Amino acid sequence: MSEMNTMGIRDLENYSRQHSKPLHPLLEQVREYTLKHASSPQMMVGELEGKFLQLICTLSGAWNVLEIGTFTGYSTLCIADAIGRGSKVTSIDINPDTSSAAANFINLAGLQDRVRLIVGPALEIVPTIPEVFDLVFIDADKVNYDNYYELVLPKLRYGGLILFDNMLWSGRVMNPQSEEDHALHRLNQKLTMDSRVDNFLLPLRDGIQVVQKVVRS
Ligand SMILES: C[S@@+](CC[C@H](N)C(=O)[O-])C[C@H]1O[C@@H](n2cnc3c(N)ncnc32)[C@H](O)[C@@H]1O
Repeated sequence: MSEMNTMGIRDLENYSRQHSKPLHPLLEQVREYTLKHASSPQMMVGELEGKFLQLICTLSGAWNVLEIGTFTGYSTLCIADAIGRGSKVTSIDINPDTSSAAANFINLAGLQDRVRLIVGPALEIVPTIPEVFDLVFIDADKVNYDNYYELVLPKLRYGGLILFDNMLWSGRVMNPQSEEDHALHRLNQKLTMDSRVDNFLLPLRDGIQVVQKVVRS
């Protein structure tokens, strides 16, 4: 057995984290708050994925970003810290309590000028936003991912990106049982066949579908 096989994925992730530039210092406070006060704190994207989100934002030059699933603001803050001055991230969440915690952290970080938080059901809110986005990060209720996809694709610029979190769903997509397992597996299949987009299922953390719009409409 090679040494690689004796190491766990967590060890490798820790090494990777230790050898990556740190995130905004306030994110440690968001993490601590979420672990202590939020239910299901594991929903937070965490350092590695936060760093990846930042890299994608800077590499793609994203200017107008939409996020579905604010929670306590970890990923929102990562995005807001990466996009340039004058750019904007609109983040939607149905939960007013976690959104209020997110608003507090965004103010503490001094990034309130580039973040707009909207509280409510994303299926109703997205159609009311008459904007073109460069990047959309989807990390909310899994059964609606395909609905979010169809809602945001027309609002995405040509060449723009959609990132879907949790698309490996702890491996459950390979043997789907629940409604969520099936929804995510069906979407992985659909994206791979969909001529409107290019896509790559990145096996980072719980799997991120990186989707690029390749049609002009
Ligand atoms: C996985 S968490 C988001 C984690 C966040 N991206 C982070 O890194 O901290 C999912 C969020 O989606 C929100 N959500 C669930 N259903 C929703 C809906 N129908 N509309 C808007 N938000 C929803 C939940 O309230 C929850 O905060």
